[in-house]
Amino acid sequence: MNRTPFIIFGVFLTIAFSLSGLVLIPNWQFQDHKPVINTRDGSQYPVPYFGMALQGRDVYVDQGCTYCHTQQVRAKGYGGDIRRNWGNRRTVARDYMYEFPVLLGTMRTGPDLANIGARQPSRDWHYLHLYNPQITSAGSIMPRFQYLFRTIKAGELAPSGAIPLPPAFQADGTHIVPTARGEQLVEYLRAQNRTFPLPEAKQ
Ligand code: HEC
Repeated sequence: MNRTPFIIFGVFLTIAFSLSGLVLIPNWQFQDHKPVINTRDGSQYPVPYFGMALQGRDVYVDQGCTYCHTQQVRAKGYGGDIRRNWGNRRTVARDYMYEFPVLLGTMRTGPDLANIGARQPSRDWHYLHLYNPQITSAGSIMPRFQYLFRTIKAGELAPSGAIPLPPAFQADGTHIVPTARGEQLVEYLRAQNRTFPLPEAKQ
């Protein structure tokens, strides 16, 4: 018996099913996604990144932060993300509608950063942590990103923009100032806020 037509039909079905499941149906489900408007104050979510935060996204990508950090909060019952205070709700497709490429990440050597801007809005905290994670988080295994900072020899007077290093981490007469890329990265981190309530993500 000649089975060729069956095999060809089987191959066709396999391709048709996977194409519709992986490409057509998700496209159809998400094509109408629009930002949500808060009726109380007219604010919109999500908004595209702009200015320094947008530039900082490139720094985040080229420094490989994604190798150790995710940006996705799992729903209650699918892990401890909400209990760990990584978000007040799960993240959904709408959260990423202006992101390309989406930096979901797969490795959680460090905490999830989907809401780091809400959890840690302080610029100084981020500068100290990036300069040397031991300052804010003793025992951290996160690498230092000291090349995102410049050392300025300025005696007693701190130049403007100097980060408030604790004396134990500061060489005499020097001050540490973030470079443009350091500033951009911190603005990007502070823009990570996916706490806006969305109708499709109750928790
Ligand atoms: C080798 C893995 C590794 C890499 C690469 C890495 N991190 Fe981390 N990160 C960690 C670990 C571990 C922690 C938890 C300890 C700490 O707070 O330092 C952490 C913590 C953090 C926190 C604090 C999170 C919180 O909830 O308090 C921020 C913000 C952060 N990292 C940002 C970054 C950025 C930005 C980059 C890229 C420039 C980066 N990390 C690269 C491992 C990493």
